[in-house]
Amino acid sequence: MFRSLFSRLMVTYLIIMLITLITLSLFLSSALQRYVIRTTEEELIREAKELNRHYELYDRGWVSREYMELISDGITSYENTSIWVVRVVGDISLLQFQYNPNGLDNEMEITPFSKEEITNVLRGNIIKNIGKFGERFSVPVLTVGIPLKIGGSIKGAIFFHTPIEEIDLILYDIYADIWKATLFSAVLAVVLLYWTSRRISKPLSQMSDVSREIASGNYKRRVNVSSRDETGQLALSFNAMADSLERLEDMRRTFVANVSHELRSPLTSMRGYIQGVLDKTFDPEEQEKYLTIALEETQRLNKLINELLDLSQIESGQFPLNIKVFDINEQIRRLIIAQEEKINAKEIDVEIDFQSNKCMVKADPDRINQVIINLLDNAIKFNRHRGKILIKTWKNRGKVYVKIQDQGIGIPKEEIANIWDRFYQVEKSRSGRERGTGLGLSIVKKIIEEHHENIWVNSSLDEGSAFIFSLEASA
Ligand SMILES: Nc1ncnc2c1ncn2[C@@H]1O[C@H](COP(=O)(O)OP(=O)(O)OP(=O)(O)O)[C@@H](O)[C@H]1O
Ligand SMILES: [Mg+2]
Repeated sequence: MFRSLFSRLMVTYLIIMLITLITLSLFLSSALQRYVIRTTEEELIREAKELNRHYELYDRGWVSREYMELISDGITSYENTSIWVVRVVGDISLLQFQYNPNGLDNEMEITPFSKEEITNVLRGNIIKNIGKFGERFSVPVLTVGIPLKIGGSIKGAIFFHTPIEEIDLILYDIYADIWKATLFSAVLAVVLLYWTSRRISKPLSQMSDVSREIASGNYKRRVNVSSRDETGQLALSFNAMADSLERLEDMRRTFVANVSHELRSPLTSMRGYIQGVLDKTFDPEEQEKYLTIALEETQRLNKLINELLDLSQIESGQFPLNIKVFDINEQIRRLIIAQEEKINAKEIDVEIDFQSNKCMVKADPDRINQVIINLLDNAIKFNRHRGKILIKTWKNRGKVYVKIQDQGIGIPKEEIANIWDRFYQVEKSRSGRERGTGLGLSIVKKIIEEHHENIWVNSSLDEGSAFIFSLEASA
């Protein structure tokens, strides 16, 4: 029945609110009833004492019975209050004065009071009592009794009886006010509850809508964040997650597009050359030239696939780093020798500046090999003919820094941030025939990040670039 969070919140709140309001009203009503009865009693006692003074005059015969009735009428502030003045003469108690307003047992002949009934009053006490006063009334009354004093001594008792109904009438008015206030606050509370519950549940249901849309492939929608509380925080994190999913999806798309593009162009040209050879469109020397180009293309494809495999391997974290202590200077020397052919072809002058002969680092040697090969490859590829490459290593505060600097074409400032992206090449034409795939630096960056180290580049257009990366030094 209450499947949604909203209805569950509403129902819970409503129940809590109703319980609170009802108990509060009940407590308030009973406290009020007690209060009204107590004040009525006090009022009646005060009035009875006043009547006592007038009765003394009447007893001495100074005032008439009519005067007494007039006074009684003026004294009682409650409608229908009966007044009895009882005298005790010897063993008998006699009703000496009686004032009965309309309706309340006017014609009733008061049965003689037994001594016990008024003993308490005769002892000088004040009595208060709710009931029918020994069945003398047909409806419940509030009775107060005070000792009747004449000339300073107790001669009997004065009783004031007010029907409970009269007192209830006052209470009913107050009750009505209480319930009106309760109803008003209940309505107000319901409105507030509705608003709060909506505020809590709306972002949640929105999130579930949006996540369903994301699951079906629409990454554009976001949740409206309207509060700063926990739900707001959740909505914020949800949106951040949607952002990164969208980014990831974008990356995946461009990646697939790039890979297909990179595969298609060499395949197309290879097909053209091989077709030409088969169709005998080329003469024999040309045939060899085109076959060589086709062979180069297959090598390029091979390199591309190897790089892609490397990248996915590093990203998947399947092959954790194999950290060893080794001499980075020795490693660099060996790699320069391995690249000698390319270096000589461009007549490049390689200068080495090592701070000390040996420089021990803590890293994965194979991965760092890949980093140096890629950077060295770029430094050769993007260098000018007869240019210079400077390789420097130095130690500082527990780190070893490696710098590979060239005097090549440099990188435009606005492109520097992009060179680490996969397949990114500043201008494909710049490196002439030695086309790369644009994966080298993204692999380099991934490897350095895996080592929790940094790599950065200083470059100015037409002057050259310097790539510097850090490694953990081994003591
Ligand atoms: N030393 C450099 N001098 C000038 N530009 C560079 C240098 N190193 C990198 N770049 C620029 O950054 C781009 C990205 O380099 P990256 O090594 O990722 O790709 P690539 O060398 O073109 O291809 P690959 O390394 O996959 O063979 C290069 O295409 C080039 O435009
Ligand atoms: Mg490269």
